[in-house]
Amino acid sequence: MKLKPMGPAIGAIVEDIDLTRPLCDDDHAALHAALLQHQVLFFENQPVTPRQQRDLAARFGDLHIHPVYPQHPEVPEIILLDTSRDNPPDNDNWHTDVTFIETPPMGAVLSAQLLPASGGDTLWASGIAAYEALSEPFRRMLDPLSAEHDFLQSFPAWRFARTPAERVRWEAARDKHPPVVHPVIRTHPESGRRGLFVSEGFTSRIVELDKKESDAVLAHLRVHVAKPEFTVRWRWKRHDLVFWDNRLTQHYASADYLPQRRVMHRATILGEKPF
Ligand code: OGA
Ligand code: MN
Repeated sequence: MKLKPMGPAIGAIVEDIDLTRPLCDDDHAALHAALLQHQVLFFENQPVTPRQQRDLAARFGDLHIHPVYPQHPEVPEIILLDTSRDNPPDNDNWHTDVTFIETPPMGAVLSAQLLPASGGDTLWASGIAAYEALSEPFRRMLDPLSAEHDFLQSFPAWRFARTPAERVRWEAARDKHPPVVHPVIRTHPESGRRGLFVSEGFTSRIVELDKKESDAVLAHLRVHVAKPEFTVRWRWKRHDLVFWDNRLTQHYASADYLPQRRVMHRATILGEKPF
């Protein structure tokens, strides 16, 4: 396979690999190493079936079944992100996936199934680059802090419990997912690099700070992490596939395409408890 970095901080295009077929051990190791180095890997023209996508993701760990998002009818590990006027997009905020559990995902594999004529780009930001760009005294202040991550911040009832059937599933999810606490700065368990691990999507407060201090620091970090220097933006084509390391990245799905429809399939790989 061939790697083409998209910038110094984050992102690489991977060529000369067929992800519709089971990964051999060498390709698996090479992809894993590339993921640690570039954090987000982009692949073009990979028409994976839901089963092939699930099997690809499962080479990297156990898969997560999402408590709220709709599932593929035959492959429950595949989330259907099918957005349109009737089901407007909700990923237009900077977030790290599923940080509302004790062991948030190590990564995710996203496949473009149906796209608007234009728009619907996705952006990723490097929490490592964002952290390294902070001043040393500010990093020192953040280093020992911890933060609460709240399921309800991204999955409110008004949006995800609109029908009686949705309500039942949403209440079960809410009861199963009280807020959890993670370090504000985490260490990548494989690369050892440190980076920012709070996001607009799920982080509700910094535990050790006063409420107004917490709001101010989180507001600053939300703006900071989205600096173009730390980000990469992907303009999707049908059957593009993206594999991101979810441990020290955040992403944002641009919601600029309504009333057109956009359909994506996601497989989510469970990770380890952040430290
Ligand atoms: C996701 C997500 C991005 C997109 O799958 O976790 O945020 O581009 N989606 O749909
Ligand atoms: Mn997401």
